[in-house]
Amino acid sequence: MRATVTAHKDYTISKIDDRVYGAFLEHLGRAVYTGIYEPGHKTADKNGMRGDVAQLVRDLKVPMVRYPGGNFVSAYNWEDGIGPRADRPVRLDYAWHTSDSNAVGIHEFADWCETVNTEMMLAVNLGSRGLDHARNFVEYVNGPTGSYWGDLRKKNGRADPWDVKMWCLGNEMDGPWQVGHKTADEYGRLANETAKALRMFDKNLELIVCGSSNSDMATYPDWERVVLEHTYESVDHISLHMYFGNRAKNTANYLALSEKLDTYINTVASTIRYVKAKKRSKRNVYISFDEWNVWYHSNVQDRAVLEGNEGWPHAPRLLEDIYNFEDVLQVGCILNTFIRRSDVVHLACIAQLVNVIAPIMTEPGGDAWRQSIYYPYFFASIFGRGTALQLQVNSPGYDADVADNVPYLDISAVHDEDAGTLTFFAVNRHGTESLDVDVALQGFTAGQVFDHQVMTHTNLEAVNNLTNQNAVTPKPGTGAKVEGGRLTARLAPHSYQMIRVKV
Ligand code: AHR
Repeated sequence: MRATVTAHKDYTISKIDDRVYGAFLEHLGRAVYTGIYEPGHKTADKNGMRGDVAQLVRDLKVPMVRYPGGNFVSAYNWEDGIGPRADRPVRLDYAWHTSDSNAVGIHEFADWCETVNTEMMLAVNLGSRGLDHARNFVEYVNGPTGSYWGDLRKKNGRADPWDVKMWCLGNEMDGPWQVGHKTADEYGRLANETAKALRMFDKNLELIVCGSSNSDMATYPDWERVVLEHTYESVDHISLHMYFGNRAKNTANYLALSEKLDTYINTVASTIRYVKAKKRSKRNVYISFDEWNVWYHSNVQDRAVLEGNEGWPHAPRLLEDIYNFEDVLQVGCILNTFIRRSDVVHLACIAQLVNVIAPIMTEPGGDAWRQSIYYPYFFASIFGRGTALQLQVNSPGYDADVADNVPYLDISAVHDEDAGTLTFFAVNRHGTESLDVDVALQGFTAGQVFDHQVMTHTNLEAVNNLTNQNAVTPKPGTGAKVEGGRLTARLAPHSYQMIRVKV
């Protein structure tokens, strides 16, 4: 099979917002407890944070982390997580039918963010609580000393405001599973009034309003229209979520799901434009894709806890998907979609970061390791910064459940002008045939391929786990070369590739 691509230096999509490589960490299962936090672990720092996990996060250069939920935030009292640990209450978490010791709260999370060099994106509870709680939390985090909340923060050990810019106005408020679920009109009004109040405190906050929990929701896409009609002038981003699964064990259909993601983004981008026109507004609102990942492997094993049959366990193993090689291809296609839609998707978070549907896994008292999907996320986060190019792609395709003529070649390209590099991320969706790719490099003075990484495996179901942590890893590729202004490479069947060229 053959595919041709044209990459022209001046045909650009957008400068990519680095924050599209963000991640999410919720008080859920072992994401926090025995994930990032495990006092007594041999690598723990003075705050009880695991050093091995922090290093894996630092390696990813995660630009921001969304916290503390998720469904968890919709019944969360942030005040439970401040002050002396011994005085913090154990609370029942209705979202995941667990209990939370509150040993980690905003101070511990903020300190951890500093150690892993990441920015905080915080969510306020608009489920069981409302505007007043939201403004108190924002003031506690960002307000000056000399006032009640700033002084309390100082008393609890932090005098300087953290100056958190990104604030999510609740989570998945369209979902009937949410504590405090609302209709679009109820939520839109509350979100707008909350946003207005937060802007009275600081007009420069970046506010994120809830869009649909996924594009299969009955209320989608009218939810976006109604919510934006209420909030258009007071928010900066609308949040979307999507999870991917191969329940039917059909790889071709599974790998086509990024087409559905693309349609979802397109539809919401159109809805944003519609409301902008209707409001005669000059303001731009963008998409925050603040939950995305593969999530299905752990569904059956989670039932007992989620249905309440285990009581209220603290930090049980929940949503611990063990990712396989096939998921590497899926995550590669998802990240390519975000790069190609970087004109409208400015923020995004892999959900989640540690243990819970996550690229990083830990064993309590033991190792931390990289799941298979760590690698495509790593490559995109480290080398996918710069300007996304508008590629012209001619690839053979196939018909799938979600779309027809899905190209076998899924590809994106990022030009980093400062570093003088052009980086291609490519997936061959074909299971048995190689793909000979020929890229015309136009407007560039192209040097040689200086880095080529390949992920491929004879077994789509191969996984990394505690006892075999390196079954699925990238290997240096061979054969990719630049000649006469053309990059050529042979992509093995079902492979993920990163090819970097000096320009
Ligand atoms: O990431 C797991 C859960 O998925 C989040 O808590 C929720 O927002 C979504 O439904």
